[in-house]
Parts: sequence; C-alpha cells; structure tokens
Amino acid sequence: RSNEPLSLDVRNNGSKKRKEFLWNKSDWISNWRCSKLGLIPDIIAHRGSSKEAPENTISAIDLSWKNLSDGVEIDIRSTKDNVLLCLHDRSLLRTAALDKKLKDLKYDEIKNVDVGTWFNSKWSKETPPTLERVFRHVLEGKKIFIEVKEEGLTDNLIREINNSSMDNDHIRIISFYESVVREVKQKTNLKTNLLVSFTQQNISLNLLKEKLVQLKADGVGAENHKFLNQEFVNEMRGIDKETHVWTVDDPSEAHKYKKMGVSSITTNDPKKIKE
Ligand code: G3P
Ligand code: CA
Repeated sequence: RSNEPLSLDVRNNGSKKRKEFLWNKSDWISNWRCSKLGLIPDIIAHRGSSKEAPENTISAIDLSWKNLSDGVEIDIRSTKDNVLLCLHDRSLLRTAALDKKLKDLKYDEIKNVDVGTWFNSKWSKETPPTLERVFRHVLEGKKIFIEVKEEGLTDNLIREINNSSMDNDHIRIISFYESVVREVKQKTNLKTNLLVSFTQQNISLNLLKEKLVQLKADGVGAENHKFLNQEFVNEMRGIDKETHVWTVDDPSEAHKYKKMGVSSITTNDPKKIKE
C-alpha cells in the first residue's frame, strides 16, 4: 500500500463519494494527510525567486528564504579557469549583454559583470555568484538543487561540495546529462535527478524507467506537461524513484501535482505557490 498514490489511498477507504468530496474541497484535510504521511512536496525556487529578482543571483536566492521556499534551484557552469558559477545560458548575452561564452572567459574577466540590469536597473549590483558563495547563502535546513549544465565538471563540483559546510542530505544534483548523474552516483552518496523535457525529448515511460534504474538516479525531474500524470508518478513509485516537477507557477497546477504525490515542485514564484 505504501507505494500507492495518496489520492488512491483516500478513495479506497470507506465512503468513496464523501471522501472524494472532502479531497477536492478541503485543502487542509489534504495538507494534514500529506504531512502525516510526509508527503508534502518541497517548494523549490527556480533559479532563486526569479519572478522577483534576476535569476541565479544572490538576491534571488536570499529572497527564496523570505518567500518560505524549502530550497533553491540554480544552474552551474564552469569558467575557462575552472571556477564554478551560476549561469543558465552558455553565453552572457541575455543576462549581461556580453556576447561571450562563459567557458572562454576567466573568472577575473566576468566576476564584476552586471547580471541584474537586464531584469531591472535596481539590480545593477548583481554579479554572477560562484557556487562557493551560493553555499554560504543556503540557510540551515534548506535545500539546494544544483543543475549541472555541462559535462566534465563533476570532479570539480564534488570537490566544492566536500569543501563546503553543506549537509549532503540537503543537496540534490540534477541534470539532463546522463553522464553527470552516472558519475555523481558512482563517486558520492548525493541524491540525483535525471531531468526530462517532454517537449524536447521523445522518450517513452519504459525507456525513462530503464535509464533511471541503470543510472541509479534517485528520481526524475520532469517538465510540467500533460505527460506527467498520476500513472507516471505511480510507475516511478513502482521502481522506487521519486518524481519532481518543474516549472509550475500556477497554484491550481501545483495543487494537482501535490495530490499526485510528487516530491518537489520547482517554481519561479514560491511566494504564490506557498500561499
Ligand atoms: O529544474 C529543472 C529546470 O530548471 C530545467 O530547465 O532551462 O530552467 O534550466 P531550465
Ligand atoms: Ca535549471
């Protein structure tokens, strides 16, 4: 029974109609049942609180805690001289008006670039934070989802994590790259999610399950998409894998995923989703 989704668990007990009514109408009952069973999903701020502050910056990360997020998601890449820092795109064009790729620049060349003004001039002091600096802004008990945007940097990443004071239980390494998930699982006890984008990848549920088992991934980070339904979550539970979803900014969608029993919901707007 423990593998069954919560919604089925409720519906299979006692008066089906009454419980379905309560399930649909009363959020506090569902919250209470979820919390009893440890099933309330973590709310993870996507690139920090990126609706309110420029993505992947210290201000966006700090705001996540003010907005009561359970964790933050950040994207990491490496500079030419192997410094890991937060940046979503390969190039600095969109967020710093600099038409250069990060991998072609040394840290000293970009450490002072403004990655805030594109969002709003009031954020002009934001610079791309190093992973080491980000770790110092993760509050006690909070989580960090580190999305590895490039292959070939896992040794460097593992070194940084070992040098930090972060608790491994509060870190999750996520990536679209199978090699990243494989290497992290081979070398550490860190939890990992393989990311999947249903709009960009043509992947069957069976193939995805095979991959997750083969890679020893702890879960899937699935795109917010109609393909992610109750059956999907059940199938993942059947092979002992967690389902995490990104990116959900609509509270009613978040509620739907919560009822399905996902482990985390990644959102640009944690304030709204937490309400
Ligand atoms: O959490 C996964 C999600 O962040 C992947 O998409 O493009 O926002 O990095 P992207
Ligand atoms: Ca990301």
